[in-house]
Amino acid sequence: MERIAQSLEKKIMTAEEAAKYIKTGNVIAVSGFTQVGYPKKVTTALVESRHAKDLTICVGAAVGDEIDGALVRAGLVKRRFGHQTNKDLRNAINEGKVAYSDIHISHLPTNMNQQAGLKVNVALVEACAVTEDGIYLGMSSGTADAAVRNADIVIVEVNETVPMEVGGMHDIFEVGLPPHAKIIPIEKPDDRIGTPYIPCPPEKIKAIVLSDVEDVAQKFKPVTEATEKIADNIVKFLKGEIAAGRLPENPGPLQSGVGSVGNAVLKGLEKSGFKGLSMYTEVMQDAALGLIDKGVFKFVSTSSVALTPESKKRFYENIDFYKDKIIIRPNEQSNHPEVIRRLGVIALNTPLELDIYGNVNSTHVMGTKMMNGLGGSGDFARNARISIFATESIAKGGLISSIVPFCSHIDQTEHDVAVIVTEQGIADLRWKTPKERAELIIENCAHPDYKPMLRKYYEDALKVTAGMQTPHDLTKALSWHQRFLETGTMKEN
Ligand code: COA
Repeated sequence: MERIAQSLEKKIMTAEEAAKYIKTGNVIAVSGFTQVGYPKKVTTALVESRHAKDLTICVGAAVGDEIDGALVRAGLVKRRFGHQTNKDLRNAINEGKVAYSDIHISHLPTNMNQQAGLKVNVALVEACAVTEDGIYLGMSSGTADAAVRNADIVIVEVNETVPMEVGGMHDIFEVGLPPHAKIIPIEKPDDRIGTPYIPCPPEKIKAIVLSDVEDVAQKFKPVTEATEKIADNIVKFLKGEIAAGRLPENPGPLQSGVGSVGNAVLKGLEKSGFKGLSMYTEVMQDAALGLIDKGVFKFVSTSSVALTPESKKRFYENIDFYKDKIIIRPNEQSNHPEVIRRLGVIALNTPLELDIYGNVNSTHVMGTKMMNGLGGSGDFARNARISIFATESIAKGGLISSIVPFCSHIDQTEHDVAVIVTEQGIADLRWKTPKERAELIIENCAHPDYKPMLRKYYEDALKVTAGMQTPHDLTKALSWHQRFLETGTMKEN
């Protein structure tokens, strides 16, 4: 197969020419997920020309600086949908300069398909090849299929640095719209149900741009003593479930959230003794590639392969070894509640903070400042066989307790959180009442510096509410956050 079918070669043009198809006020749905496989040339040309303003950018999860940074700094972005991690975009959101609507990853393609208040004008997609059948994506799938399906026109950046074999690793399946939406027939993480390309009629493709620009280099913070202990506790919990006959010898498939903590925790599985596990997840980070090498993982279904430059090199050089051990799926499948529930996924996500009753804040620092967005955490937490939230018990060197009396914002409610794990221990919340949960979380998971303060809050709340279902002293429930804002620490003097 050629990278660009001969019949489509006449559509090849410069990024500057292609950028002219984008107009002021357009909704642009871009490919990419966790800063992998996103278009770079056309948005860079847009920043140069600045001819199109007030843009709405729609993407499954986090794209690189060429979109979430440069376009924002140039003042061209009015609205943004989907998970994000760029500091400039985050600041623009929190300064009210970019209107941001956080959304479950599984809802984004569904909303695009239903054209629910959002009509996509342009799909801007990075690919490794394009043929008369359609578009072969690179190292991520994300919401690119929904973008192509629903846009008026398509612009493709063909990235020649991505090996052609990557194109064949995708599995694209159109679910369709209710009441005729199809059952998604995935019964195992390695089931293939669709095509390796996004079907796209050639006449919809208005421009093809050649690119040799690599994705931004992925970076992960190193494993720490705390993340190692968290991983040990997760393995201990899983082994306890196996011993009790509640999980099979090879538990899973596993989902693991994006970020340094998720990566470090997964790395901890190396010494778990587990072999032949699988993942059904939305992002496969560095640690997961290492686990394939060591036989801990036999198969990974993901929506993005997000690797550091060293791991990417190893992946490209050994692609024949990896390519039948990984499927890259669109978010419509990777995050679909139907599939997560059927497969019995064990979900591992990282919260910003959680409270003594098991509510989780994934997104808002001190209740008001948007961090990254909830990504797929809600998709997996609500539908998982076991929903685990794992975090260090303190943040910012101990100035913040990750366990607070009451979350300052709630993304995952107490009903979607089954197990909490910190470096201090494990709180298994299944079948527990709010009061039993509070006892367990404070006793097993809180940091020693904050445990007496949490106990005091809980005991006072018990007195104030005299036996009510979920005791809170509303005059103090958010006082820890207020103290941090006023003094720079949640600790009492
Ligand atoms: N209050 C304020 N800041 C906090 C915090 C808290 N309770 N907990 C963590 N942070 C800060 C850290 O200090 C760090 O700041 P820095 O970048 O200035 O050093 C930052 O959040 C990132 O935390 P880090 O420890 O580096 O871990 P991470 O890369 O794993 O990110 C989350 C942690 C919580 C921010 C990230 O996992 C996230 O966005 N989760 C929610 C969405 C989600 O679950 N997505 C995946 C679904 S598949």
